Parts: sequence; C-alpha cells; structure tokens
Amino acid sequence: MDMFIIRGGRPLTGEVTVSGSKNAALPVMAAALSANGTCRLRNVPDLADVRTLSTLLSELGTSVMREESGELVITTEDASRCVAEYEQVRRMRASICVLGPLLGRRGRACVSLPGGCNIGHRPIDLHLKGLAALGANIRVERGYVVAEADRLRGTNVYLGGPFGSTVTGTCNVMSAAVFAEGTTTIEAAACEPEVVDLGEFLISMGAHITGLGTPFLKIQGVERLEGTEHTIIPDRIEAATLMMAAAITSGDVTLHGVRVDHMTAVVEKLREIGVIINVDGQLVRVRSERPLRSTDCIALPYPGIPTDVQAQLTSLLATVDGISIVTDKIFPDRFMHVSELLRMGASIRREGNNAIVSHTSRLSGASVMASDLRASAALVLAALAADGESVVRRIYHLDRGYEHLETKLQQLGGEVRRVRDEPQNVPTSLQPIEDDTGPNIQRPHFTRSIAVRRATSDESSAS
Ligand code: EPU
Repeated sequence: MDMFIIRGGRPLTGEVTVSGSKNAALPVMAAALSANGTCRLRNVPDLADVRTLSTLLSELGTSVMREESGELVITTEDASRCVAEYEQVRRMRASICVLGPLLGRRGRACVSLPGGCNIGHRPIDLHLKGLAALGANIRVERGYVVAEADRLRGTNVYLGGPFGSTVTGTCNVMSAAVFAEGTTTIEAAACEPEVVDLGEFLISMGAHITGLGTPFLKIQGVERLEGTEHTIIPDRIEAATLMMAAAITSGDVTLHGVRVDHMTAVVEKLREIGVIINVDGQLVRVRSERPLRSTDCIALPYPGIPTDVQAQLTSLLATVDGISIVTDKIFPDRFMHVSELLRMGASIRREGNNAIVSHTSRLSGASVMASDLRASAALVLAALAADGESVVRRIYHLDRGYEHLETKLQQLGGEVRRVRDEPQNVPTSLQPIEDDTGPNIQRPHFTRSIAVRRATSDESSAS
C-alpha cells in the first residue's frame, strides 16, 4: 500500500490541466455495453475505478482497450454474458451502472449488490423502482439483483427520494429506457452534468432523449444503438479540489480545461470567502491571500454545491477566520474526514449532518488515514496547508478518482511524495512522541487536538 508524505506551507503556483470526469466516464463506459459496434471514448481518466470497470466489462464479453492516443476503445464480442460478480462490484459501487444497459440491451442483468460504504447508507431502491416500472421482473437472490424482461415498456417513472434524485439511478433507468417500447418519461431525474454527458453519448448512439439537464426526461425507445465516438466532460470535482488547493495554500494557480458552467455554486462560494477567481473560457485562474472569510455551505443536488466537494471545503474553511457551518443534505453521514482533520489541529464539531468549523490559527502536520475518495482529498489539502510534514495513509482511495494527483500537485510546487506505507518511510518528525515529562517538550497542537477530539467523539456516540 502507498502513502503520501506532504510537506505543507508552500503556496501552490503554476498551471495544470483538469482530467476527464470519473463520474461521467463510468456510466458512459457501462452504456457502451448497449452498442452494436465499437465505441471510442476520449478524455477517459486513467484511474483505478476505470480499470475496475474495464475488467468488469471484459467479464461481460466486452473488450476495453486503451490506445496510445489515450482513447478507450470498447467493443462487445459476446452479448450473452449478464453477470456482474461481487468480486468487481465490491471494489467499486459504480459497477451498478451496468444494470440498466445489460437489462435494456441483453434482456437480463444479474448484478451483485454493492454492500456497505464509508460515506453512509447507499440503497439502490430507486434504481430498482424505475426498472420495475419499465416492466422488468426484479428479485434479489444470494446478494445479487436479478432483473429480466423480454421487452421493456415505456412508462412514467418518478425518481425522487428522501435525499433528492439519484445520479446513477437516473443513468440506469435512462440506459434501459432507450430500448423500451414506446415513450418513457422520468420525473425528478438527476440534473448533474455527468447524467447529461451520458444522455448525449446515448443520443450519439441513436437514442431519442429530450430534457437532459432538467428533472423531466422524455425517452422514445429504439430497437438498437450503434457504436459512436464521444469525449468525456472535464472533472468538475477535480477542478474544485485543485481550486481549493490553490486557496488553502494562498497560491496562484491556473487551471486548463475547466467547464466553469458546471461549477457555478462552487465558484460563487469560493468568491464569497474571498478567493479571487478569473475565468477566461475554459481557463480559470485562482488566487487567494489571507485573511479569508467564513461562510455556511450546504451540499445539495446539482446545481448546488456537490457533496463530492464537501470534505475539501471543510478543510479549507478550517483555515479561515470565523465560524462556518458545512451541511451535507445528500450523504448526511459523510464526515469521516472530520476526526482526521482534528488530528491536524482543526477545530470542528459534528452535529448531525452539520460540521461546525471554527478557525484554527494553523494546522499541524500529522499522520492521518484516508477513509474514502473525497475525504482523502480533504486530508491532502489540509496537509498542503499544515506546518511541517504529514503522512496521508490509504491513498488507494485517491487513486480511484484523481488522475496523477501527486504529479499535478508537484507541477504546482507542492511537496508531495508517494512512498510505500512502511515504518522506515515515516518522516522523523512524525515518529512517536517520546514519553518525556521534561520541561523542554513543546506540543501545544497535539494536546489541543486530542482535547477537541474527545469532546466530539463523546457527542457523536451520544447521537
Ligand atoms: N438514494 C436512495 N435510493 C437510491 C439511490 C440513492 O435513497 O436508490 C439516496 C442516496 O443514499 C443518497 C442520495 O440518494 O442519499 C443520492 O445518491 P445518488 O444515487 O445520487 O448517488 P450515486 O449515484 O450512488 C453518485 C456519484 C457519487 C456522488 C453522488 C451524489 C458516481 C459513480 N457516483 O453516486 O460520487 O457523491 O452521485 O452526487 O457518479 C465520488 O465520486 O466520490 C462519489 C461518491
């Protein structure tokens, strides 16, 4: 297993290019199962999740090859296979994206249920409700969802749930409905740019879909879809993460290849706290100087602030003046990063789906453990701003969703090293503190973060 060693305190400066979107690429790759012929995808990021899905697609009889140009070429060779095994699905929840395409194109899908998740409870009831409304016969057997239909029938489907719509649920129902007989309307469809990207991919294969980007989709079923070419949209979550990396280090970074129109809420929020952002087409320059101001922010479905940047925003707000409240209305338990940020001296109190973030005069480097993809990014940001060295462990989470993150940060002057997670690689500054009661030992941050942490864990165990 690898870990990052990060020496903080250096402003990030320079230029970097944003990669293709993970969350757009995955459902698009899955939908390539529906094509007669070959699909060529450009701008697919080179990520662990993309490799996991490639393996799953090959197990489903579809070859996935990355050409030297970087294009991903996907061709179905055997359309009789319909089983997505637990071995792949447990590695990546987004494997569930094959459910709709398999059912729509092959008439049968047998997909392992993904199981638990570090960011909270993640049911797929809305996916199943939508597919059942299209006439699929659905049952759960030995941990697998089995969905079958000779021919799906167009109908009206409502996909609203207690936390808004569902992104991959909309992808699944849309990918199945393109093959249904007649017309399907999806109400409360997710409006995220990644859903729009999938819709545009399906349209380029011959599907008839209107209303993309709105909560009302209308889909006229077709008999078959053809191979096509498509370019994946830039990753708005990576772009937001890099913008916050510039802000938290008081840097000056220019990002290339950004769809700022996909990031209005994030850009506004960063401007509100005092970050200077200049936009010129797909070029975004981000500068920040202290002091920055506190704010309240709520993670909501698109076009709101994405839950996928909530953790990174929490790190940034931990370093600004005043008290901020960060609320997650999509994944109310997505706060695993908080305990680790406390270890770096942040002052954060968790109350239900809120994190109350107070100003910390300085974060201090520490050994911290990543718990999921975006929590890992939040820890990297905090480490870039902290005094001294930090170790961020379990960065395999980061590798799932950020393409060459350490290279990009190094390109901006960040001191980030990837090493094996072995005791001899831990920097001396982070070796265990001697149990010395002598008068010369100074560890104010360490003492303070322990005190805050106790208070918080008592509260959370009471709730
Ligand atoms: N929900 C239900 N029932 C369902 C489906 C979802 O109640 O059948 C609830 C969820 O529990 C959650 C909310 O609805 O509270 C939204 O979940 P959604 O289905 O939209 O999430 P997802 O499709 O599983 C995608 C992204 C996530 C991102 C969320 C929210 C992909 C592959 N994943 O997940 O990305 O956080 O939408 O925007 O697109 C990440 O990239 O780190 C990540 C977790």
